[in-house]
Amino acid sequence: MGDPGGHDGLVVKEVSVTFGGLAALSDVSMAVDEGEVVGVIGPNGAGKTTLFNVICGFVRPSEGTISYKGKALRRQSPHDLARLGIARTLQGVGLWRGLNIVENVMAGAHSAQRADFASALFGLWRSSREEQRLRHRSLEVLEELRIAQFAKWYPEALPYAIQKRVALARALIAEPTMLLLDEPASGLSSAEMDELKQLIGQLRGRMGVLLVEHHMDLVMSTCDRIVVLNFGRVIATGSPAEVRANPEVTTAYLGEEVSAAQDTPQASSRGASDDDASHVATGAGGTRGTRGTWGTDDARG
Ligand SMILES: Nc1ncnc2c1ncn2[C@@H]1O[C@H](COP(=O)(O)OP(=O)(O)O)[C@@H](O)[C@H]1O
Ligand SMILES: [Mg+2]
Repeated sequence: MGDPGGHDGLVVKEVSVTFGGLAALSDVSMAVDEGEVVGVIGPNGAGKTTLFNVICGFVRPSEGTISYKGKALRRQSPHDLARLGIARTLQGVGLWRGLNIVENVMAGAHSAQRADFASALFGLWRSSREEQRLRHRSLEVLEELRIAQFAKWYPEALPYAIQKRVALARALIAEPTMLLLDEPASGLSSAEMDELKQLIGQLRGRMGVLLVEHHMDLVMSTCDRIVVLNFGRVIATGSPAEVRANPEVTTAYLGEEVSAAQDTPQASSRGASDDDASHVATGAGGTRGTRGTWGTDDARG
């Protein structure tokens, strides 16, 4: 399963990424097949976000290839991804403030259809019938995510967890065959995380899902397969049970109880959070910025 050969969906093959002298990813291979939910976990600084970014085309691999359904992805724009059936949500929320919730979701469909979606923002829909249809479909997606009651609200008036769900709706409106989620659980309470688990469960089988996430619990309970990164390398791949039982993983992480504030040999930077601010600390040839333990309570936002 660690071998990307023979996979029909998203295939990452022997990808390396370096920032200055730092190897953020080294020879990473992994795959997400159609309909499969695959988790990528690893402690802070392991390379999860870099892997996500390289798949999305934000970061260029120094070596290796990425393909989807046999087609190479190279310097792909968000529009290219959408055309291929790949949708993503980012760590932040990124809703448009001037649009209400249903309009935000509708704009998601437009951004999938065209590179220039300014027309959507200004309400220049191609026809009012098309707008009707799209609005209807957007409401259906909101309903599926159990947030249709907020259709006419504006994002800033809604709790963070609801905003995140809107962002998910906006990705789903494009009817992707592959959905990439970067830390969907960040900032969620444990009750909200339970709801997220259910939502991801609803998507299983309908599309491939890549779930980049450092909440062990979420990944263990939702994923068919898990890839574990450590220091930019894949140290384990397998079912949740296999990964849990893998001695290397156990030694490296699972045995550690858990708070990033605890004294552990690997926590070179205590209380480090998993957000992008940690990246600026690493200069050319520098040492790794943050090394934490598995995060459990990174509530923010
Ligand atoms: N743009 C960047 N410039 C320099 N270093 C980076 C950049 N992005 C990530 N890194 C470094 O690469 C390593 C992996 O980071 P990242 O992919 O964010 O890990 P994770 O998401 O697992 O916490 C870290 O050491 C980080 O400091
Ligand atoms: Mg990250």
